[in-house]
Amino acid sequence: MALRGRVVASLLCASLCGNFVAAQVPQARVQWPEVHSRVGRDAAIEARVERILSRMSLEEKVGQIIQGDIASITPEDVRKYKLGSVLAGGNSSPGGNEKAPAAEWLKLMDAMWEASMSADWAGEKIPVIFGIDSVHGNGNVVGATVFPHNIGLGAMRNPELVRKIGEVTAREMVVTGFDWDFSPTVAVPRDDRWGRTYEGWSEDPSIPRSYAPAMVEGLQGKAGTKEFLGPGKVIATAKHFVGDGGTTDGRDQGDNPSSDEQIRDIHGAGYPPAIEAGVQSVMASYNSVRGQKMHGNRPLLTDALKGDMNFDGLVVGDWNGHGQVPGCSNTSCAASINAGLDMFMAPDSWKGLYDSTLKQARSGEIPAARLDDAVRRVLRVKVRYGLFEKPKPSARPLAGQFALLSSAEHRAVARQAVRESLVLLKNKGNLLPLSPKANVLVAGDGADNIPKQSGGWTISWQGTDIANADFPRGQSIYAGIRDTVSAAGGRATLSADGKVAGKPDVAIVVFGENPYAEMVGDRPTVEYSPSDKKDLELLKKLKAAGIPTVAVFLSGRPLWVNPEINASDAFVAAFLPGSEGGGVADVLFKDAAGKVRHDFKGKLSYSWPRRVDQTPLNAGDANYDPLFAFGYGLKYGQPGDVPTLSEDRPPPSATGADGVYFARGATPPGWRLAPSGGASVRAIDRRGQEDTRLVTFTGAGPQSFALTATQPLDISRETNAQLSLTFDVRVDAAPTAPVTVAVNGKPVPITGALRKTGEWQSLAIPLGCFKSAGSDMTKVAMPFTLATAGKLTIAISDIRLASVTVPQDRCSL
Ligand code: BGC
Ligand code: BGC
Repeated sequence: MALRGRVVASLLCASLCGNFVAAQVPQARVQWPEVHSRVGRDAAIEARVERILSRMSLEEKVGQIIQGDIASITPEDVRKYKLGSVLAGGNSSPGGNEKAPAAEWLKLMDAMWEASMSADWAGEKIPVIFGIDSVHGNGNVVGATVFPHNIGLGAMRNPELVRKIGEVTAREMVVTGFDWDFSPTVAVPRDDRWGRTYEGWSEDPSIPRSYAPAMVEGLQGKAGTKEFLGPGKVIATAKHFVGDGGTTDGRDQGDNPSSDEQIRDIHGAGYPPAIEAGVQSVMASYNSVRGQKMHGNRPLLTDALKGDMNFDGLVVGDWNGHGQVPGCSNTSCAASINAGLDMFMAPDSWKGLYDSTLKQARSGEIPAARLDDAVRRVLRVKVRYGLFEKPKPSARPLAGQFALLSSAEHRAVARQAVRESLVLLKNKGNLLPLSPKANVLVAGDGADNIPKQSGGWTISWQGTDIANADFPRGQSIYAGIRDTVSAAGGRATLSADGKVAGKPDVAIVVFGENPYAEMVGDRPTVEYSPSDKKDLELLKKLKAAGIPTVAVFLSGRPLWVNPEINASDAFVAAFLPGSEGGGVADVLFKDAAGKVRHDFKGKLSYSWPRRVDQTPLNAGDANYDPLFAFGYGLKYGQPGDVPTLSEDRPPPSATGADGVYFARGATPPGWRLAPSGGASVRAIDRRGQEDTRLVTFTGAGPQSFALTATQPLDISRETNAQLSLTFDVRVDAAPTAPVTVAVNGKPVPITGALRKTGEWQSLAIPLGCFKSAGSDMTKVAMPFTLATAGKLTIAISDIRLASVTVPQDRCSL
């Protein structure tokens, strides 16, 4: 790539300025490729945008650059404040019901649109647009086709199929009235401890280079043709600009220490082709680049993206991402707009942000020209999208045709993607493909579990709290096997724990990571399930019984599974295939006549670790020593034996970094969980041996039971993301005085939740409550303190941070 080093004069001052004369030092800003979007500039559109802009009041301009979340904004607010956009975050849904029927979504879309149209505009009416994370199909809506997450798509090496997935996703989004997809994620994840690894197609920039334009064109239609942003199409977003996949230790929202060249050539690789294909929005990233937060990064947002790459669409922020810029808060951040952000994502903070932004626009802190430029970009996208001509969402082509959600045609596309995304890592003695006439045991907790095979960003943000029933037309992996085998005269028996009568011919064990999203999925190492080896025990049991065993591993990333590979005869990396589990059986089983129906096609798009400590691990590393290299993937008939692998590993070092503070009776090493002031504690059994603490408060003055971390934790991201401190309790003797739970000594009352005795219940306190109570969430040394001055006997288990849908202002239980 040609590097035309543009020389930018900058003042080098640092701390030396006091004594030395500041010198003007020429500093090269790394030039990004010059891109020409195939959308082109249309003089009529530009003139129309200028006309609309010229008639807007200052208040209306400020409203246009703010986006609120449906959990915190009503249609009446949209009418009154004339906001440019509304979103639904991962946990937000019509009426707060994650499982709301599709018709409810469409109704809400109409209500928002009508509110914007009934507002009292100075000039032309400007309709609102609605954005949502349809990152693997229209997955927020019950009944939609759920595609494999991007990590699986990366393994397919099939941009044409990616384009089709984009087309189907757009169609299903339009059915429910959505305008704007916060997808594709073009991140290049380099450290698989990152909880968003599965949202990226690959560790290698070559794959986003070919996939980004395909996905953008699938969603938006081909630029320069009539289908572009036409009926059945939505606005796409390339995210998160830039460097999200390269943070230190894979920490979500962390700092990317890469050089400017690496930022451009590795992490930024997907942007030039996405912009060329006409992507209309780019989302700013939470991370910083060498210390500078992207939401305040003018050289990258303005100079590189809008300057070098000629991006003329809109730059949207991430969920309160502006609030992390030094000097800013969630409700005030001129610096972000001045750096080049065009629309704030201000889920719950939109109102305060509106007031302060209006003030900053009046005072000139946000220059009029910058505000106009931001509004112009929002309007340009709306005009290109034909929004001003579109009727209300439910009256648009395809809207309300709910039978299109998971239609047979759409599911066939997803099923093909499942087949092509599977990667065969081991096939000892060519155990695979299997005969469909066999007696097959299907085991493992992932076998009949569509939520687990779908991962995060599925119906709920974390993909948790859902069940097979929430996928009315979906199919579990077991169901696909059952259908295939029973059609050919074989037999499939489902038994999650592997217990069956008699000896099956073969066992298929489906297991792996439980769903997670964003920072909740960050891990301290790439070891699969460091503290719970039940899947390994199951595999070993089957091996000991002499049953040939196929492992189907569900995961959002490559993980260290040497013991599990040793204990299996065949090992398939299935990643997060989504709702069409039948695609797995299509590949694993021959037809009744003994012919292969579908061979394996998948090739790893991420390197697979040989050791637990291999992070980061990427093709091209100096001492690259993966277990399975980037591009690896067996086909049928190839020798598939894998020599016995080393099972040595350093002792698991849980740090609390994954938000699990007390589980299965243990805290992260070095942490203290202890009573003080005269309270007493003993270990008791709940689900497992000594996994619970029974605490007795005697009533002789203030007493507490507290968890102390070895080092203060920074849980500000988790607070921003509206996670809760959750724990399970069973009251054995009711409290005689108020009871509180504190973070860093800042208490929240919970007495009201402790009235019932003898029953286990889960309690959740939004982290925001502790922040409001004065706790510094960037330095949390005491993440959990239970205290009372009265008498109380209480059993406690499972203390962790989790995403729970509770009102954020419910700060007293
Ligand atoms: C929302 C997600 C969002 C996250 C921010 C959650 O509460 O539901 O959509 O991405 O917060 O980190
Ligand atoms: C995520 C984005 C997402 C947004 C809205 C954020 O927390 O980082 O990827 O688009 O929330 O849900």
